[in-house]
Amino acid sequence: MTPKIFISRIVPDPGLALIKEHFPPFDGAQGVDLWTADLPPTRAELIERSRGVDGLLCLLTDKVDGELMDAIGPQLKVISSMSVGVDHIDIPAATARGIPVGNTPGVLTDATADQTFALLLAAARRLAEGERYLRAGKWVTWSPSLLLGADLVGATLGIVGFGRIGQAVAKRAQGFDLRVIYHDPTSKPAYNAQPVDLDTLLRESDFVSIHVPLNSETKHLVNAEFLAKMKPSAVLVNAARGGILDQNALYHALKSKQIFAAALDVTDPEPLPMDSPLLELENCLIVPHLGSASKKTRDMMSLLAAQNLVAGLKGERLPNCFNPQVYG
Ligand code: DGY
Repeated sequence: MTPKIFISRIVPDPGLALIKEHFPPFDGAQGVDLWTADLPPTRAELIERSRGVDGLLCLLTDKVDGELMDAIGPQLKVISSMSVGVDHIDIPAATARGIPVGNTPGVLTDATADQTFALLLAAARRLAEGERYLRAGKWVTWSPSLLLGADLVGATLGIVGFGRIGQAVAKRAQGFDLRVIYHDPTSKPAYNAQPVDLDTLLRESDFVSIHVPLNSETKHLVNAEFLAKMKPSAVLVNAARGGILDQNALYHALKSKQIFAAALDVTDPEPLPMDSPLLELENCLIVPHLGSASKKTRDMMSLLAAQNLVAGLKGERLPNCFNPQVYG
């Protein structure tokens, strides 16, 4: 019998094509039900549309908790997220119900590391501020002291979280002649990066880049105390998850020039409300969660998410299973 599937947004073609190939028809009534609106389903819509499905393909904008899993029903065989981060999914709840959760590590490592470097350079050299200045008609002449920023050569980059993406950032840093230190008790050195404790990293770094997952241990890891340990000339980059950062503490640190600048790919909540005080600051660059936003990367994420879904529905081991404990 054709399994029932809910896909919570239109994902790039390679993934949809794979699902179509394995589980036609694609008509919603039976088989695959695809959410086609631009905005994600509301909580009520997500519960309603995924009730009774065998497989759920979701995005990081969908909260997948025990309540939703129970509403879907005991036939649910697989949850596949088109994301590497799984903080929107209650993993213990899925594991307790024996449901494998798929995610998409690896395929977005380079795109996210590129984005991290783009943010780092943009904040260091005040690009967004410079563009606002120009568009406001304030550029009257070249000036020896106009919008001076920070140099990379010889500076120290501190990477908090030295997994795939943190290491890919370290690899790029070599080309900029940065000294790299990292804090991650579970990762071995790579790309000439030296392991240090967190206090040393904050004390010595000119750039601090966050690459840990969001969980109960990392929630508000970057708080007032963390920021107070950074150099006044330091730049903070966060391309991981908004919840790792206490935005109120960051606002005060940037406003009082306790640190030089910040560049954020992610916020909490997303989207960032337009009345967020962070938006008043010239030294805070914010973009709308674009870390993995390249065509090729999103194609690969969609394909991997579909491969996880298809494997789960066929009772096979997921190519990328976040909770392999379900297999005993
Ligand atoms: C992920 O996959 O978790 C990323 O944040 C998407 O950009």
